[in-house]
Amino acid sequence: MVVKNTNQLEEVTDSTHYDREAEVKAFDDSKAGVKGLVECGITKIPRMFHANKHLDITHENSKLTSIPLIDLTDEYSEVIGKIRSACHEWGFFQVINHGIPTSVLDEMIDGIRRFHEQDSEVRKEFYSRDLKKKAMYYSNISLFSGQAANWRDTFGFAVAPDPPKPDEIPLVCRDIVMEYSKKIKELGFTILELLSEGLGLNPSYLKELNCAEGLFVLGHYYPPCPEPKLTMGTTKHTDGNFITLLLQDQLGGLQILHENQWVDVHPVHGALVVNIGDLLQLITNDRFVSVYHRVLSQNIGPRISVASFFVNSPDPIEGTLKVYGPIKELLTEENPPIYRDVTIKDFLAHYYAKGLDGNSSLEPFRL
Ligand code: OGA
Ligand code: NI
Repeated sequence: MVVKNTNQLEEVTDSTHYDREAEVKAFDDSKAGVKGLVECGITKIPRMFHANKHLDITHENSKLTSIPLIDLTDEYSEVIGKIRSACHEWGFFQVINHGIPTSVLDEMIDGIRRFHEQDSEVRKEFYSRDLKKKAMYYSNISLFSGQAANWRDTFGFAVAPDPPKPDEIPLVCRDIVMEYSKKIKELGFTILELLSEGLGLNPSYLKELNCAEGLFVLGHYYPPCPEPKLTMGTTKHTDGNFITLLLQDQLGGLQILHENQWVDVHPVHGALVVNIGDLLQLITNDRFVSVYHRVLSQNIGPRISVASFFVNSPDPIEGTLKVYGPIKELLTEENPPIYRDVTIKDFLAHYYAKGLDGNSSLEPFRL
């Protein structure tokens, strides 16, 4: 390699000495998450968080447009029509008047904040990468993948098919986690009914396909970032499930890729964001789309969000041998299947192996 200037030389020298694995391990061993780094008063972010590529974080045009906002108390057929077009054109929409009181949403955000803001010695007790646990605290599920780490910590728990026992949830957020889990599960079923109707199917169709048999709720905490231009809160990705219901606080930072432009998902107090995952795109044969989204890091914060993932399987990593393919009722001669049948196990194996690399996880299953 020809070294052109001293800057480059520094970089070369630097990378020869840079031991990423050691940095990642030390970070994980701290069990204190990104929040722990911020608590230490760092002003430069560790290299493991540096985005691999130059970050395109422009979103000037996003003020001009926003994802559909749907009032669930509007006339039923109007709601179905709006949901159908939102799922087809955007893959994302927000719902209001969904039946979960705003006070419950606010208290859930607060409960997640309390968890992450406990003394680091206390939250360490919950730090784990064992997905068999009912409740776990970790930073970056794919920390060891070699990809840039995100400026985010997570406290996650499994809600369905086996709900946690109260004493499996830490006391700082126990009551609200139990209440929110119950309500979000019910709302997930309601949304699945609306989506089924939006597809022209029997309202119970998607539920009967077990699209919401499993539910995982992830309470994300995005601490303020001293160098937000260098790292992401969440790297561009699609969700590898059926649907996600997302609660976000008022800070913003979530964006979706719509017609090749990053569009802000503006926080609406009391609303929930609904998005379509890859598996729903697959079974609807592209009628509903799973779109890329990401979260920018910011020098203010923390930002808190709670993502509820509806999945087929009680095991989010291993999956099951249940086979999914394009729904027969949606296929016609003009509309032949675009995807082949796939087991949840094979789909998830590909989804996780691929990591958050920005490519569609549905590609290998296209016919
Ligand atoms: C996710 C996700 C967005 C957010 O957890 O998959 O996209 O706002 N979260 O935290
Ligand atoms: Ni997501």
